[in-house]
Amino acid sequence: MKELLRTLVEIPAPPGYEGLVRNQIREWIEPLVDEIRIDPLGNLLAVRNQANAPRLMLVAHMDEIGLMITHVDQQGFARFVALGGVMPIHCVGGRVRFLNGAQGVIGVEKNPASSEIPPLEKMFIDFGASSVEDCPVRVGDVAVFDRPFLDLGKRVVSKAMDDRVGVAVLIETLRRLEQSVFELYFVFSVQEEVGVRGATVAAFGVEPDLGLAVDVTATGDTPKGHRMEVRLGKGPAIKIRDAGMIADPRVVRWMIQTAEKAKIPYQREILEFGGTDARAIQLSRSGVPTGVLSIPCRYIHAPSEMVDMEDVENAVRLLLRLLRTSHPFELM
Ligand code: CO
Ligand code: ZN
Repeated sequence: MKELLRTLVEIPAPPGYEGLVRNQIREWIEPLVDEIRIDPLGNLLAVRNQANAPRLMLVAHMDEIGLMITHVDQQGFARFVALGGVMPIHCVGGRVRFLNGAQGVIGVEKNPASSEIPPLEKMFIDFGASSVEDCPVRVGDVAVFDRPFLDLGKRVVSKAMDDRVGVAVLIETLRRLEQSVFELYFVFSVQEEVGVRGATVAAFGVEPDLGLAVDVTATGDTPKGHRMEVRLGKGPAIKIRDAGMIADPRVVRWMIQTAEKAKIPYQREILEFGGTDARAIQLSRSGVPTGVLSIPCRYIHAPSEMVDMEDVENAVRLLLRLLRTSHPFELM
């Protein structure tokens, strides 16, 4: 699965420009499903039919945080805005790569009076150009962070673990899946990082009976990190709450009971900030019972997001069990 993940994270896909990663996913999964389509917003939907079964929508988002050019000055320096939760602390000295192949470095205006981290408005991208004609990008061009995949053995690092690791979990699950008690909609969504926009329309179109997102969550296991119980390598996390949703308690219980029965390690997750596509599913139409299977990840939204391959493997194992285990309503 490491090779699958490596290939996925190296494909650039800023919000709204997910085409390259969508093409790759489509090529891999088309032979594994009964039906596949792309909706008008760009979400990729793959269906495993099952007559008279409740419909489960699984979602992982294809996009990663990135940036967009807003202005190029006479010297060829470009200003930009964030696409998603780009943090200034991770920017200065970083490198970016545009969809047209252009590469540049992020510089910052001098501010001798302050040791504070400057806002993105004070930063610019230097392409080594010396005039506006020389600059390889134009207003509206989009980029992602330029940082190669790093293999540390059990743990791996990339600028796009959020949420290519979720995409990898869904693809691997499809590859190993035999039977399910659900009709399955595997949704690879667009524009999560700018406000769960893809999942919002996908959930409306799919009309699921039950929803499950696979995405990263933070950890509390680094020096003076968040006060949070999730740790890398201790198993996938079952979300109970984040800033965007209270996971349906019936879904949480279904997930926990299934993990315990299968003796798959799991962690109980409360994330005090952030949210996922699950929020959009939960609030679609007249409401959908929804949960989240989370992959613990250090340094989310930094250019070096770290996950543990054992958690990724256990997420696939748990998901496969869940797809064979009946609807949570029946557990009430
Ligand atoms: Co994110
Ligand atoms: Zn995410």
